[in-house]
Amino acid sequence: MPAAEPSWWETAVVYQVYIRSFADGDGDGIGDIAGLRTRLPYLAELGVDAIWINPWYPSPMADAGYDVSDYRDIEPAYGTLGDAQALIADAHGVGIRVLLDIVPNHTSDQHMWFRAALADEPGARLRYHFRPGRGPGGAEPPNNWQSVFGGPAWTRLADGSWYLHLFAPGQPDLNWAHPEVRAEFENILTFWFDRGVDGFRIDVAHGLVKQDGLPDADESVETAQSLVQDRAGHPAWDQDGVHDIYRGWRAVADRYTPERIFIAEAWVDGNERLARYLRSDELHTAFQFDFLRTPWRARALREVIDDAIAAAASVGAPPTWVLSNHDVTRTVTRFARSQPHHLIETDWERGRWADEDPDHELGRRRARAAALVQFALPGTAYVYQGEELALEEIEDLPDDVRQDPTWAQSGFTDVGRDGCRIPLPWTETDVPYGFAARSDAVTWLPQPTHWAQHSVQAQERDPRSTLNLYRRALALRPSLWRDGSAIRWLDVTDGVAAFQRGGVQCWVNTGHSGVPLPPAATVVLASSDLTGDVLPPDTAVWLRSQ
Ligand code: NOJ
Repeated sequence: MPAAEPSWWETAVVYQVYIRSFADGDGDGIGDIAGLRTRLPYLAELGVDAIWINPWYPSPMADAGYDVSDYRDIEPAYGTLGDAQALIADAHGVGIRVLLDIVPNHTSDQHMWFRAALADEPGARLRYHFRPGRGPGGAEPPNNWQSVFGGPAWTRLADGSWYLHLFAPGQPDLNWAHPEVRAEFENILTFWFDRGVDGFRIDVAHGLVKQDGLPDADESVETAQSLVQDRAGHPAWDQDGVHDIYRGWRAVADRYTPERIFIAEAWVDGNERLARYLRSDELHTAFQFDFLRTPWRARALREVIDDAIAAAASVGAPPTWVLSNHDVTRTVTRFARSQPHHLIETDWERGRWADEDPDHELGRRRARAAALVQFALPGTAYVYQGEELALEEIEDLPDDVRQDPTWAQSGFTDVGRDGCRIPLPWTETDVPYGFAARSDAVTWLPQPTHWAQHSVQAQERDPRSTLNLYRRALALRPSLWRDGSAIRWLDVTDGVAAFQRGGVQCWVNTGHSGVPLPPAATVVLASSDLTGDVLPPDTAVWLRSQ
């Protein structure tokens, strides 16, 4: 019997729309749904199968929308529910599915539930984690947990009680042992599924359930200020009770046709723990982040790719490939400096090695090559907006424009994630480069003065641009790389990784000198110019073997 055709999401290219910085339709300097709608033809031409939109719900923006005050509405700066419905219809009209971001670990402190808790309405505090403090007068936090953004994970109210927030103080953690919390979120899923949304990326999917009694964490796993929360044994993360929640969510999704899907953002200790989220009655896929934490070294790439494929296969899920997102340093900049021997940790990659000047041209070559590797692999690929333009991280933002709560919560030591969230350049004009409907708009984060050359308009004209490389790669990907999930590594020289899928090969050279390509092969696509039959350093190529 022939193998069943994979579902769309098993092989999809998903484009991440960071809505605040994608396109601004009303000229207030903040991206919005109207702007996104006008740019859908761009996304269709790019060749993506789906968009994942970062949170677009009403929010006081304590954490760029990951602090939701109403899960059934749209942030006024982004538009209305009517705009959202029109976007979903338009996107479907051009063959693009729509995935939303759901934020179930915490609400905003302006959510009506938390306001009721602050007012100490009967029972309202039970929906969150309120506790008395420790020590004389209860002046010490209830346990030793640290916020991911820095500082204690607890804030004290004027009445002396403390509430838990694993992220910013404006993001109080929900108590998922409370039946109303469970019922409410299943209802929210239904609300959006009924409006045609194709699925959800689940924010902090591994954080919802906390160990009973909220015990202290071992000091050895309690490291503050890390978005890489792979802290095995920490009582706040990856608790077994979380899986029952997802079984409930899956039952909701399975009531719909066409298929509705879930993608977990779960930073857990290894692929074996991750696989537990992907059991057949739980979530469909999960981000595997080791690919984006891999330094530019052929051997490391190969190990990470093998591990991701094996882990996904063990639960029958497709592997997922992420090179960047709104939480990490842009790919070009990660690859623009010397590369470590180990997986890149957040502290390292957020420019703490920044006494080394970045070589952005080198970073761009490598990022283009990495994209060809990413698109040649089996499974789902995620493209963060601006990767197709090879934008670099903006590392020199003035301190007074920074918005990421990480900056203040780390005591002004960690610049945070604003540098990868700069509004996109669309035209070759001056700032705001066509990002906003008005040319005098002041963008919510300033754009650099040299981005005209990286704009969509400039890159459309240049056949060798990264945008055109992405377009060609995505146009070729479905037919070229459709053969199954197995990859076969080829025996090649050190510094090079090469694999075959079906009749096609992908070669990438992370070394310092050129490498001869097999004589009988035809080059289908190369990330940089080849010199004869030689694959130069920092270049990838797709070959048809004969
Ligand atoms: C993960 C999101 O990607 C990040 O941007 C956010 O700050 C945290 N979750 C908290 O919601």
